[in-house]
Amino acid sequence: MRGKSLRHGLTALLTAAMATTSVATGLVQATADTDGSSRSQPLRAHATARNFLIGTAVATGPLSNEQAYRDTLNREFNTVTAENAMKWDATEPNQGQFNFSGADQIMASAQANGQTVHGHTLVWHNQTPGWVQNLDANAMRTAIRNHINTVVGRYAGRIASWDVVNEVFDDNGGMRNSFWYQRLGESYIADAFRYARAADPNAKLCINDYNVEGINNKSTAMYNLVSRLRGQGVPIDCVGIQGHLSIQYGFPNDLRQNMERFAALGVDVKITELDVRMRMPADSNKLATQATYYRNVIDACLAVPRCNQLTVWGFTDKYSWVPDTFQGEGAALPYTENYAAKPAYQSLHDALAR
Ligand code: G3I
Repeated sequence: MRGKSLRHGLTALLTAAMATTSVATGLVQATADTDGSSRSQPLRAHATARNFLIGTAVATGPLSNEQAYRDTLNREFNTVTAENAMKWDATEPNQGQFNFSGADQIMASAQANGQTVHGHTLVWHNQTPGWVQNLDANAMRTAIRNHINTVVGRYAGRIASWDVVNEVFDDNGGMRNSFWYQRLGESYIADAFRYARAADPNAKLCINDYNVEGINNKSTAMYNLVSRLRGQGVPIDCVGIQGHLSIQYGFPNDLRQNMERFAALGVDVKITELDVRMRMPADSNKLATQATYYRNVIDACLAVPRCNQLTVWGFTDKYSWVPDTFQGEGAALPYTENYAAKPAYQSLHDALAR
């Protein structure tokens, strides 16, 4: 309840701010007006013109139920990621019993709207059913192979890229002591990539993680692993940098340098889950700071030729995961809960339109 009223407060604040800020007002009106000028084009028009993917995570609930959600999603983004619908608990809740209802819904919507799809995610320690976690080593390896064969195989040729493994490191740069690691050691990572390549030889295969924006122990561990596995012929094509940032912690100014070192390994780099949270209530200063974070991320990505995609983790504050996880924080996305473009939207737009 409290979170809701704080978010309503943000919408009112932004509406007022935009009414008195000519730049922001112009942007919001122009995107709605489609007046034909280049400035008025949605994000995806500018992105497509430069062969870039601008994406968002998509939730199946509002995709089914809300026209305003669909309108913004399909107007602004040329690629989508399922926020939850392609995870193991959704696609194979019981061993060998697959459910593709949410995943198919997102695929159909993407296809109808000319959007590519980034698959998320095959092997993760969260949102994986208990039956998997309790398997012994051999059975677990077989379950991974069967899961990847079935899920990647179903969408072969229709999913451009997959997060094959997600969040395999701990925050110090060690291997995360997950049930995967406990049972299989590091070998599950190479296996997962090989199974995915066999199931769809054309999908780009990514390793994805958070807190790897700057150069630190964790991103260096990721760098070393990608380097080592590629040296062994493991099919890793891309690195996903999630990008869950907060204005309280400062911007990782070595983001571009970090992406450049991964690119030098011969892999693509993607910002896969960008959002920039703040302590609530939001105010115009915080939103302006947030906009600089969005601008810095997209500028860094556009400056690195192998950074070919930037995806935001949802686009409207109405459906962000942030308030559910970080008490008292929110307003992390480029649109308010009423679908008004925030200064953060303008940052993305101006960088792509440049
Ligand atoms: O589907 C159930 C529903 O049946 C139930 O009634 C409801 C009650 O809480 O929960 C629903 O499941 C929720 C699910 O999202 C779908 O809405 C889970 O509780 C909730 O924990 C889950 O949160 C997701 C989270 O991953 C889980 O780890 C977020 O939506 C999703 O944004 C978040 O995404 C992750 C990326 O996959 C990986 N990187 C970090 C990122 C943010 O945590």
